[in-house]
Amino acid sequence: MSKPVPKLPNQFLPITKDVLKETVLKAKDWAILHGCSMRSKNNYSEDSVQISPFNLLPSSFPRREFNKVVELQTVFNELMHRVAHDREFVEACFKDTIQVDEFTGNLFKIYETVQQEGVSQEITVGLFRSDYLLHSTSNNNLKQVELNTIASSFSGIGTYMTQYHRYILQELGHFDKIKNLPDNDALTGSSQGLLDAWKLYGNPDSIIVFLTEEVTYNICDQRLHEFEISKLNPEVKVLRRSLTDIHDRGSINSKGELIIDNDIVGLVYLRVGYEPDNYPSKKEWDARLLIERSKAIKCPNIQYHLVGQKKVQQALAKSGVLERFLTDPKKIEALREVFVGLYGLEFDEFGDQAVQMALDDPERYVLKPQREGGGNNLYGKDVRDFMLKVKDTKERTSWILMERILPPSETGYMIVPGGPNPPPLSETVSELGIFGVLIGDPQKIIVNKQVGHMLRTKAADSDEGGVIAGFGALDSPYLID
Ligand SMILES: Nc1ncnc2c1ncn2[C@@H]1O[C@H](COP(=O)(O)OP(=O)(O)O)[C@@H](O)[C@H]1O
Ligand SMILES: [Mg+2]
Repeated sequence: MSKPVPKLPNQFLPITKDVLKETVLKAKDWAILHGCSMRSKNNYSEDSVQISPFNLLPSSFPRREFNKVVELQTVFNELMHRVAHDREFVEACFKDTIQVDEFTGNLFKIYETVQQEGVSQEITVGLFRSDYLLHSTSNNNLKQVELNTIASSFSGIGTYMTQYHRYILQELGHFDKIKNLPDNDALTGSSQGLLDAWKLYGNPDSIIVFLTEEVTYNICDQRLHEFEISKLNPEVKVLRRSLTDIHDRGSINSKGELIIDNDIVGLVYLRVGYEPDNYPSKKEWDARLLIERSKAIKCPNIQYHLVGQKKVQQALAKSGVLERFLTDPKKIEALREVFVGLYGLEFDEFGDQAVQMALDDPERYVLKPQREGGGNNLYGKDVRDFMLKVKDTKERTSWILMERILPPSETGYMIVPGGPNPPPLSETVSELGIFGVLIGDPQKIIVNKQVGHMLRTKAADSDEGGVIAGFGALDSPYLID
């Protein structure tokens, strides 16, 4: 990959070797004691967790840009809500993709089924996360990478990363600098959002189900939400169930309620369901349909899920499209400012142009399929090779082409499980995520809030940045002017 050119200064270096070694030990124990941890993939045990990869020191981040996207979050929330309720637009977005992408096709079938039968629960709740990178060739302005509408993770651990960096700056004597770590209570904000939605279900005896994998590595982030919900409302029962459990033990009664074992489910919070591996057999697809058909409130329901796909992001970036959903020109302009070039690959004049652009200058673009969870995109030479392979096939229409964002780099210490102490200094780049909560129905928006943030940092020469996927480290922003 082409190296990011400009550098952001780290405010806390150098640190002497002795202080560093001692700080790392302290930091790891703080992380484990406060849930900045995950289960080991190599040595899985229900009895233990290990540190999540994290950044010893917070990464510098321009204050102006941070504040800008914090403010923008409620606009994105509103946009996603309106797009999700525009059936004609959603159908047009996926028309070509579903003919070649079986996974998206299956999701779309569920969408069409519930639309045709009549949606049984009008209340929708979204815990969204809009992700951004600083674009060094555009004055370090923030540009949107994607907007997640399903299983947006790290509002739990992200909250603790802010507290951790407060602690570690204090330990290192930087008392005067702590004020530059912005407040972050994404955990309470998102948990309260789930509870507010659950309350609208209108049955105080109903339970909340966290839909999860059978084996979850990112257990702490999920449990933090569960425990926060029980702190905020001790009377609500929260259970973890998999799609397979729902298939084996779930049903819909004559009132349209989702019943699991003997409980009525008021709200289903999906932390799975966004990748093909989550549906190993027809059972899991049937379970997803059962949930969607029921009266339970879903976070997200199938239409919110679909509008988080890259194809929708690309369609929204076309000229004149935002105007279909928003009327305030200031909001539209603010959204446009964070978009980079996004191109569809349909068999038309625009699609052909995009194919040519990718072939001519592959380093300038990222090729993305309709997938979540990291590790699916193509970069650099792979963009060209893949394009040559698919350009005359329908397959190309299920991908989008995106202008590559080139973030500035910084120097930092990434602490990884089993890593050396002292850790090596590495060149890193950071991706900011802003959390939003939206609750509404087709007629109105009931709650629309920005609730917090998270920062993920990866080695500057790594293309992807997923923490659980093993590419990135948890971090928090240190605001600079
Ligand atoms: N346009 C882009 N420019 C530079 N890096 C990108 C771009 N799009 C994605 N990435 C990198 O790839 C990662 C995964 O891409 P993303 O669109 O977030 O897909 P996923 O749904 O798999 O998370 C991002 O976290 C980011 O590090
Ligand atoms: Mg992502």
